[in-house]
Amino acid sequence: MNRDAEEALLTVRNLSVNFDTAQGVVAAVRGVDLTVRRGEVVCLVGESGSGKSVTGFSLMGLVDPPGRVAADELRFDGHDLLRASDTDMDALRGKDIAMVFQEPMTALNPGRSVADQIAEVLRIHEAGISRKQAWDRAVALMDRVGIRDPAQRANAYPHELSGGMRQRIMIAIACALTPKLIIADEPTTALDVTVQAQVLQLLFSMQAETGAAVLFITHDLGVVAEIADQVVVMQAGRVVEKGDVARIFHQPRHPYTQALLAAVPNVDAPRDRARRLAPARPVVPGAPR
Ligand SMILES: Nc1ncnc2c1ncn2[C@@H]1O[C@H](COP(=O)(O)OP(=O)(O)O)[C@@H](O)[C@H]1O
Ligand SMILES: [Mg+2]
Repeated sequence: MNRDAEEALLTVRNLSVNFDTAQGVVAAVRGVDLTVRRGEVVCLVGESGSGKSVTGFSLMGLVDPPGRVAADELRFDGHDLLRASDTDMDALRGKDIAMVFQEPMTALNPGRSVADQIAEVLRIHEAGISRKQAWDRAVALMDRVGIRDPAQRANAYPHELSGGMRQRIMIAIACALTPKLIIADEPTTALDVTVQAQVLQLLFSMQAETGAAVLFITHDLGVVAEIADQVVVMQAGRVVEKGDVARIFHQPRHPYTQALLAAVPNVDAPRDRARRLAPARPVVPGAPR
């Protein structure tokens, strides 16, 4: 067996997603191939509208009609996602595959406290856990993701927290059950610039702790240089280039990749991820930030 087959956590072959609209068929994703190995960070890059989010949603089984998903293979950790029932997908989603979205406000329930929403993920997937146990673990997770006074903030509603804090809650939910794959769709794009680096650092400290692989969707090549092992470049629904991050940055082959890189002249060459994300301030739960 070659290396890909041995270590592949996620294999996507010839994925296409079409939306039937009044204006005709929108071919959002057109024959995408990609592989994510265990523990690896794969960045999906491309300009707005290139099909990155729809690709991520289709892996979570979250493309609703009028969207139509087709593929030759969609395999995750031994599961055939093309043939998975709704029950199978419910069992995988949130447990083995978790997603962090761009705008946490839309992903969180506005009418329930944040700790309740973390606790719910634990209760759904862990048989026999009591309400009290789930709540206590939720508070501990809030502490872990750097929320001060977690016991007190546990009862807060999403709108009572800042955007950065809400995204920390989303990361707590995503990491609550030590997923094997985290799909992060522009998780820092909606945040203040000063908060972006902190949230990114948290996400990758959780990744290092859990050993999860990450499919990181972004249009920001500066971030890609910081975090990626592999890069997959999408344009108009297609993968135009993919490869090791150093190769993509030093020897981009496709004109579109070259144009993307040329548009960010000051981007750093990729370095070792642990050093790149070395915290300016350590992530200490409860520390002032
Ligand atoms: N529900 C939908 N109905 C129709 N078209 C859609 C829908 N969702 C996404 N699209 C289209 O699919 C294409 C890819 O969208 P998306 O994956 O969101 O791009 P990206 O995340 O790269 O910015 C876009 O042209 C978008 O308009
Ligand atoms: Mg998107």
